[in-house]
This record gives sequence, structure tokens and C-alpha cells, in this order.
Amino acid sequence: MSVSSLMDTTEKITPDFIRAAKARGERIPALTAYDYPTARLLDEAGVPLLLVGDSLGMVVLGYPDTTQVTLAEMRHHVAAVARAKTRALVVADLPYHTYQTTGNAVANAHVLVEAGAEAVKLEGGLAVVPEIRALRQAGIPVVGHIGMLPQHIKEEGGYKIKGRSAEQKEQLLADALAVQEAGAFALVLELVEPALAREITALVSIPTIGIGSGPHCDGQILVTHDLVGAFPWFRPKFAVAKADIASAIRTAAQAFVKQVHEPSA
Ligand code: KIV
Repeated sequence: MSVSSLMDTTEKITPDFIRAAKARGERIPALTAYDYPTARLLDEAGVPLLLVGDSLGMVVLGYPDTTQVTLAEMRHHVAAVARAKTRALVVADLPYHTYQTTGNAVANAHVLVEAGAEAVKLEGGLAVVPEIRALRQAGIPVVGHIGMLPQHIKEEGGYKIKGRSAEQKEQLLADALAVQEAGAFALVLELVEPALAREITALVSIPTIGIGSGPHCDGQILVTHDLVGAFPWFRPKFAVAKADIASAIRTAAQAFVKQVHEPSA
């Protein structure tokens, strides 16, 4: 019996289906979505995993980084994405300071699950193993996230590549194994040095989903605004825009302004 791929299945995508993509040798494309129309459009385009990322703080809410995003804001956006009833799996970020203990990790993840998230993502390796285990025990599927941790931007002092020193490399390899053993079904590698991202990808049996971590991960994720050129004031170097939505909006708005000012022109 042939097993459907993420692209050709018409069934709802589950965490197990994403995890099994690695064994099938199938790459996993993933994008962020923060609202109903974007979720529908990305789903119609065949994206199998949608992340309601806390990056929404920067590209939608205008915060300088992700640390100000609240659980209430995440819940609001998760609910909007969930209303699209996508075939894609909907994963939601647990925002900063919502998973310092196993108890609040589970309680706060339940808020996002009740809003429509089908899995949650949290940042960290060995340090968050108790929280990942508690989430799994509560029946909530988990995506891990190691490498550059945007919620720690203040301590990190910038968006820098991780895994160049022997010490960081050893730490990241240990983190990847720990997150897998704690029960995550996939692992985001953010700004991990590409040779190390390749090594981690070979080491773990769960799929790695890279962002700015080179081509050898099992999947790739981007902030949709970077992919479609909807946030023209900043775009990370690794993100290649495939559209220019910002220009399309400016052009349409200018045409409208002109039409209102000069109706007969
Ligand atoms: O918040 C987010 O969008 C993310 C991705 C960049 C992986 O965590």
C-alpha cells in the first residue's frame, strides 16, 4: 500500500504524519500564519504545517521583538487561523514567560489548544525537558525549537548563528537529543550553523525544520511576511522574497488616493 505524501494527501495533517515524513524521505515546507485569509491561502497552496508564531509580535503587532507577545494575543490569532479549518497542521507558539513551570506550560498550552492549536512549540533544549514531558503527558503534541532563541534576544544580544564553537555544538547536540527523548514530534533549528544542522538532522529521528540553518534540514520554515515581501523594513538575509506584497499595497493605495482626489481623471 502506498503512503500518501504531505503534498498529495487530502486528509488532515497530523503530528504523526509530519513525524513520519522523515522516514518517507519527504521534505516539510512550513510557513507562519497569523490570520484567517493567510491560513486559507497557504493551506490552499499545499503548505502542510502552519505556525502561529510569536513572530507575529514583530511583523503584525509592531513590537521590537517577540518578548512582549502575550498569551491573550496568541490566543486571538490562533483562533483566527483555526477558523480557516485547514488541512495543514496548526502549531502555536507558547509565548515568552508562559512555560517557566510544568504547571503553567500545560495550563497555557490548553488555552491555545482550546483556541484551535493542534500542537504547541516552545523554545529551549535540556532546560525545557520537564515542560515538554508534562505537555506530552497532558496529550498535547509538541514541536521543539533550539539554536537562536528569539525569546532570549535580550540575553543573546542579537540574532546570531549558533553552533560555531565546540561548546555550543556540544550543547546543541545534547539539546536536540533531549527534546526528542522528551517527546517532541519535530524540532525547529533556528540560525544553526549549517554543518551542525546537518549533523543534528542525521542524529535525531524526528524531522528538523530549519530557519536560516542551511539546506540539509528535513524541512524549512519561513515567516510568511518575509516570503511574500509584506514587511519591507526588515528581512533576514537567509529569507528570499518570492513576492512583493508591500509594493502591491502601496501601488493600490496610491491609485485609490488618486482616484478619490481626482474622480474624473
Ligand atoms: O515565531 C516564529 O515565527 C518562529 C519561526 C521563526 C520558527 O518561531
